[in-house]
Amino acid sequence: MKKTYQTHFNELRVTVVSIILLPFCLAAQDKGAKSSDSNTINTCVECHETLEMMPEGYSAGDIHQKSGISCSGCHGGDPTNYDKDESMSKKAGYIGLPKRQDIPAFCGRCHSHIDFMRTFRPRIATDQVDQYYQSVHGKKLAQGDKNVAECASCHSSHAIMPADDPRSTTHALNIPKTCKQCHSNGKLMDQYGIPHDQYDKYAASVHGKALLEKKDTGVATCNDCHGNHAATPPDAESVSNICGTCHLNNMNLFKSSQMAADFDIHSCQECHGNHDIQKPTDQMLNTASNEEAICLECHTAGDEGASTANTMYQDIQGVDSLYALAKTKLTASKTSGMNFSEIDYQIQQTRQNLIQMRTLIHSFDTSQVNAKSVEGIKIAREAIHLADLEIQEYHNRRWGFGVSVIALVILALAVYLKIRERNELVKNSR
Ligand code: HEC
Ligand code: HEC
Ligand code: HEC
Ligand code: HEC
Ligand code: HEC
Ligand code: HEC
Ligand code: HEC
Ligand code: HEC
Ligand code: HEC
Repeated sequence: MKKTYQTHFNELRVTVVSIILLPFCLAAQDKGAKSSDSNTINTCVECHETLEMMPEGYSAGDIHQKSGISCSGCHGGDPTNYDKDESMSKKAGYIGLPKRQDIPAFCGRCHSHIDFMRTFRPRIATDQVDQYYQSVHGKKLAQGDKNVAECASCHSSHAIMPADDPRSTTHALNIPKTCKQCHSNGKLMDQYGIPHDQYDKYAASVHGKALLEKKDTGVATCNDCHGNHAATPPDAESVSNICGTCHLNNMNLFKSSQMAADFDIHSCQECHGNHDIQKPTDQMLNTASNEEAICLECHTAGDEGASTANTMYQDIQGVDSLYALAKTKLTASKTSGMNFSEIDYQIQQTRQNLIQMRTLIHSFDTSQVNAKSVEGIKIAREAIHLADLEIQEYHNRRWGFGVSVIALVILALAVYLKIRERNELVKNSR
C-alpha cells in the first residue's frame, strides 16, 4: 500500500512541478534562442564568476549551457538582473537548490516534457524519469532513502554531456567509475547487505580489461547489463538476451539447443559468471581436470551432461594438437626458406575451425561439434602433409647440391690432372 501511495505521489509531484515550472522551460528556450546573440547578458554567470562562486565541477562544455539553458533554466531566477536579491528572488521564480528527493522532478520538468524537448531535437527520449522510478535506485529514493543514485549522481549537475563525449560521466569508459563511487563503498553497501566487489571483479574480467586497458568501448560495461535508468540485476533469461546482443552466435546456438525449453537452467551466467567473466578455456569442458570443469558443478561423471562435455573436449583437443603440430612444421619449413603460403593458409583454416568449435559447444550437441572436428582434422593433416613435403623437398635439394659439389670437385681434379699430364708431355717433347 505504502509503495503505491509513494509512486502516485511521485507521479503527481512530477506533473505538478511540470505544470508550475513549464513557463521557465519555455523562457529558457527563448533564452536559448537569444544566447546566440553576443549581447546576451547572464547575470547569474557574471556575478558567480566574479565572486569565484561557480559551482564545483562546472564545465563550459555542459550540454545545457551549450543549448542556451543556463543557471536559471534549472535554478530559476532572473538572469537579467544584477541585483542579487532580486535576481535570486522567489518573485523571479528562483527555486535554488533542489532537495535530493526532488532532483528527478527537477530534471524531469524538461526531460519528461515531450513537446518542449522536441523543440531541441525531433527524436528524443522523454522516459528517463519513468524508467528511473522502476529501478532499485528510484524505488528507494521514493521511500526516502538518501544514499541511492539520483540523476545528478550519475550525470553530475554542471558538467552534463551526452554519453558519446569522452568527458561525460556516462561515457562508456567512465561508467564503471561512476557506479564505483557508491558500489565499491563497503560501509555503504554493508547497510544493504549486498556485495561491494562488482567493480574489482569487473576490472579483472575479459570485459573490464578490454574496456579499461584497451579502451575498447564495444565490450559490456555496467549499464549494458543493468540498463541506463532501470538499474536492477537482470534475471537469468534476460542476462542471456543481453549477452546475445553482442555474442549473437553463442546465443543463437544456445537457444536452438536441446536445452531451449529449459532455458533458465543453462543461462550464460551459470557458466561464465557476470562481473568476473574470464577468458574461457578448453579445460572448462575437461571432466578429468576437476579444478576447472565447469560442467561438473552440476553434472556428475558419467551422466549425459558430463559425457557430452567429455566428447566435445576430446574433439577439440584432437584438432588442437594437430594444429600445434602443423604450426611447428610450418616454422621448420619457414626457416628453410621454402614455399609456405599454402601451408599457412591451411593452418589459418584450422584455427578458424577451432574458433568455430569453441562457439559450437553452445549447442551442447556432440554431433555438431564432431562434424567440425572431422573437417578440422582433415585440413590440419593436409597442412602437416604439405609441410612434410616441403621439408623433404628441402632435404632433397640439399642432397642434390652435395652431389653436384662432389661431381664438380672430381671434374676439376680430372681437368687438373689432364693439364698436368699435358704439360709433362710438352716438357718431355722439348
Ligand atoms: C550579484 C551577484 C549574484 C547574482 C546576480 C546571482 N547570484 Fe546566485 N549567489 C550569489 C551569492 C553571493 C550566493 C551565496 C549564497 C547567498 O549569499 O545567498 C549565491 C548562491 C547561489 C546558489 C546556491 C544557493 C544555496 O542555497 O546554497 C544558487 C543555486 C545560485 N546562486 C544560482 C543563481 C542563479 C540561477 C542566478 C541567476 C538567476 C544567480 N544565482 C544570480 C550571488 C549572485
Ligand atoms: C541541469 C541543471 C542545472 C544547471 C543548468 C545549473 N545547475 Fe546548479 N545545481 C543543479 C543541481 C541538481 C544542484 C544540486 C546538486 C548538487 O549539489 O550537485 C546544483 C547545485 C548548485 C550549487 C550549490 C552546490 C555547488 O556545487 O556549489 C550552486 C552554487 C549552483 N548549482 C549554481 C549554479 C550556477 C551558477 C549555474 C550556471 C552557471 C548552475 N548552477 C547551473 C543543477 C543545475
Ligand atoms: C545509475 C545512473 C543513472 C541515473 C541515476 C540516471 N541516469 Fe540518465 N543515463 C545514465 C546512462 C548510463 C545513460 C546513457 C549512456 C549511453 O547512452 O550510453 C543515461 C542517459 C540519459 C539521457 C540521454 C537520453 C537517453 O535516454 O539515453 C538523459 C536525458 C538522462 N539520462 C537523464 C536522466 C534523468 C533526468 C535522470 C533522473 C530521473 C537520470 N538520467 C538518472 C545513467 C543514469
Ligand atoms: C530547463 C530544461 C532542462 C532541465 C531542467 C534539465 N535539462 Fe537536461 N537537457 C535539456 C535540453 C534542452 C537538452 C539538450 C537536448 C539536445 O539538444 O539534445 C538536455 C540534455 C541533457 C542530457 C544529454 C542528452 C543526450 O541526448 O545525450 C542529459 C544527460 C541531461 N540533459 C540530463 C539532465 C539532468 C540530469 C538534469 C537535472 C539535474 C537536467 N538534464 C535538467 C533540458 C533540461
Ligand atoms: C550515489 C550512489 C550510487 C551510485 C552512483 C550508483 N548506485 Fe546503484 N545503488 C546504490 C544504493 C544505495 C543501492 C541500494 C542497494 C540495495 O537496496 O540493495 C543501489 C542499488 C543498485 C542495484 C540493485 C542492487 C540490488 O539490491 O539488487 C543495482 C543493480 C545498481 N545499484 C547498479 C548501479 C549501476 C550500474 C550504477 C552506475 C551506472 C549505479 N548503481 C550507481 C547507490 C548508488
Ligand atoms: C555482463 C553483464 C554485467 C555487467 C557488465 C555488470 N553486471 Fe552487475 N550484475 C549482473 C548480473 C547478471 C547480476 C545478478 C547476479 C545474480 O543475481 O546472480 C548483477 C548484479 C549486480 C548487483 C547486485 C549485487 C550483486 O553483486 O549481486 C550490483 C550492485 C551490480 N551488479 C552492479 C554492477 C556494477 C557497478 C557494474 C560495473 C562495474 C556491473 N554490475 C557490471 C550483470 C552484469
Ligand atoms: C556490449 C557488448 C557485449 C555484451 C553485452 C557482452 N559481451 Fe562478452 N565480450 C564482448 C567483446 C567485444 C568481447 C571481446 C573482448 C576482448 O577484446 O577480449 C567479449 C568477450 C567475452 C568473453 C571472452 C571471449 C574470448 O574468447 O576471450 C566471454 C566468455 C564473454 N564475453 C561472455 C559474455 C557473457 C556471458 C555476457 C553476458 C553476461 C557478455 N559477454 C556480454 C562484448 C560483449
Ligand atoms: C553450460 C555452460 C555454458 C553456458 C550455459 C554458456 N557457455 Fe559460453 N562457454 C562455455 C565453455 C565450456 C566455453 C569454452 C569452450 C572452449 O574454449 O573449449 C565457452 C566459451 C564461450 C566463449 C568464447 C568462445 C567463443 O565462442 O568465442 C564465449 C564468447 C561464450 N562462451 C559466450 C557465452 C554466451 C553469450 C552464453 C549465453 C548465450 C554462454 N556462453 C553460455 C560454457 C558455457
Ligand atoms: C548450473 C548447473 C549446470 C551446469 C554448470 C551445467 N549443466 Fe547441463 N544441465 C543442468 C540441468 C539442471 C540439466 C537438466 C537435467 C535434466 O533434465 O535431467 C542439464 C542438462 C544438460 C544436458 C541434457 C541432458 C539430458 O538429460 O537431456 C546436457 C547435454 C548438458 N546439460 C550438458 C552440459 C555441459 C556440456 C555443461 C558444461 C559445459 C553443463 N551441462 C553444465 C545443469 C547444469
